[in-house]
Amino acid sequence: MPSASAVPVCPPLSLYIHVPWCVRKCPYCDFNSHAVRGDIPEDAYLTALLEDLEQDLSFVRGRPIESVFIGGGTPSLMSSGFYQRLFEGLRQRLSFAPDAEITLEANPGTLEEGRYEGFRQAGINRLSIGVQSFHPAHLKTLGRIHDATAAHRAIETAKAAGFSNFNIDLMHGLPDQTPEQALDDLRQALDHQPTHLSWYQLTIEPNTEFFSRPPDLPDDDRLWEIYRQGAEYLRAHNFDDYEVSAWSRPNLESRHNLNYWQFGDYLALGAGGHGKVSLGDGRILRYWKTRQPEAYLNRIGSRTAGSEDIELKERPLEFMMNALRLKHGVGEDLFTERTGLPLSPVAVQLEQLRKQHLLVPGRIQTTEQGQRYLNSLLEQFL
Ligand SMILES: C[S@@+](CC[C@H](N)C(=O)[O-])C[C@H]1O[C@@H](n2cnc3c(N)ncnc32)[C@H](O)[C@@H]1O
Ligand code: SF4
Repeated sequence: MPSASAVPVCPPLSLYIHVPWCVRKCPYCDFNSHAVRGDIPEDAYLTALLEDLEQDLSFVRGRPIESVFIGGGTPSLMSSGFYQRLFEGLRQRLSFAPDAEITLEANPGTLEEGRYEGFRQAGINRLSIGVQSFHPAHLKTLGRIHDATAAHRAIETAKAAGFSNFNIDLMHGLPDQTPEQALDDLRQALDHQPTHLSWYQLTIEPNTEFFSRPPDLPDDDRLWEIYRQGAEYLRAHNFDDYEVSAWSRPNLESRHNLNYWQFGDYLALGAGGHGKVSLGDGRILRYWKTRQPEAYLNRIGSRTAGSEDIELKERPLEFMMNALRLKHGVGEDLFTERTGLPLSPVAVQLEQLRKQHLLVPGRIQTTEQGQRYLNSLLEQFL
């Protein structure tokens, strides 16, 4: 079993906040999201989130918050007043880096007059807009609550409210989708000049409607053609796939997601949130919050449903699973900084993978071929 050479250097700290409600459940989605019945209990959720934070303050250890991601569910269902009060509460308990990236996920079907301006006033400085497709038939198959016009309007409204840094979520490999239709989605998205694009291939997840009644998906040849043409188009428009589904303009990667993939620390608040923190004595803890919104709201005391140490022997694989997702990888020093382990327990595997031209020399970074065989490559670190 590897031994710790040092405790992990105090990694940058992010904050994830989960909002578990949606207007209705999309048939492909396995996130912790629940169709809302009646009014959302905003006041009670705000109180619960701040109580939840109080319990986790010892994890902060004087660090400023470098990024916040408010994900869901549909965080844009909550009013801007909710976020104003939430950030007041957060700022009373935490310090934020002066240039902290603060992102909120927005569904175009929840656009209300003045809401995006209110989000900005609350301190949110980045939006991630869930469009999925601009094609009417695909929006219908995906059970989305908005049409293409509403998606365009949401993006324009976000820009008019001052969100120059924004992401658009699109999915590809949709039922009956042609490469031309997938390209057209990308074209329409890029017409709005986003700084970032999350371009996910649709996957069929257990416990979803699509899993019980699978739609007809494109075959592998067509999936490859959709990906090939789309990737070529995005590269020609100055977007870099710094991770398999994450495309950005130069230097505009999602700093929040980069921190996950660089094995940084993150606090988690809200129903079903997952966190990971280095405790300062060599331990690294992962923990998760009560998942059901009702139970989360009504819980007295800690809302942590479970936690476990990331043991020394698990750390090499955990680190590699994250860092090797990044096309540009990470420096070797980061391994020791974040895991507290010397490089020696993985030196043999790194050398072997370099000889097979799956990793580049001198860094923890895949070659193009290594990226293609990422799963079998990772098995080396089991
Ligand atoms: C939590 S949702 C985003 C925000 C908001 N709830 C919405 O849907 O507009 C995160 C993103 O994950 C992607 N996603 C969800 N389920 C997926 C699946 N089965 N396959 C591929 N991408 C998926 C979608 O692009 C979605 O926008
Ligand atoms: S994709 Fe978004 S809107 Fe649809 S159910 Fe999942 S979290 Fe909710």
